[in-house]
Amino acid sequence: MSDALPKLSASLSAAERERLLAAANSMLQRAYAPYSKFRVGAAILTAAGNIYTGCNVENASYGLTNCAERTAIFSAVAAEGESMRLRAVAVVNAQKVPCSPCGACRQVIFEFGPDSVVLFQGKNGIEESTASALLPAGFTL
Ligand code: THU
Repeated sequence: MSDALPKLSASLSAAERERLLAAANSMLQRAYAPYSKFRVGAAILTAAGNIYTGCNVENASYGLTNCAERTAIFSAVAAEGESMRLRAVAVVNAQKVPCSPCGACRQVIFEFGPDSVVLFQGKNGIEESTASALLPAGFTL
């Protein structure tokens, strides 16, 4: 008899998951969200084994807003260069309301890690998916 629960992700350990979520939560205080008041934090784990964090950065010209996920991913590219690849992305918000990555962020996550694990706040706690599941037929060039 197998009493083990099915593993949602073979590539992310429980410790890595908790570390990423803690890092994402720590970014909520850095968010610049004076317009929406919706504070978002993100943390990513790269194939090189590094963690990078980000928060949302809004602007008076609303469309210039950068989501927390993209802030973290762009920081990772700036630090590791063009070979940066994603193993996992975690995104949380201060209100603890369901919030999965937006369409634009899904495409950016897909660019660097189609198989990456994506953790986000769901209706009943943290949900786990993958970039490809969140963005079927993602664009490649
Ligand atoms: N936001 C993120 O940072 N990540 C998401 O996954 C969803 C939305 C931000 C953008 C904006 O600053 C605020 O949340 C409200 O849309």
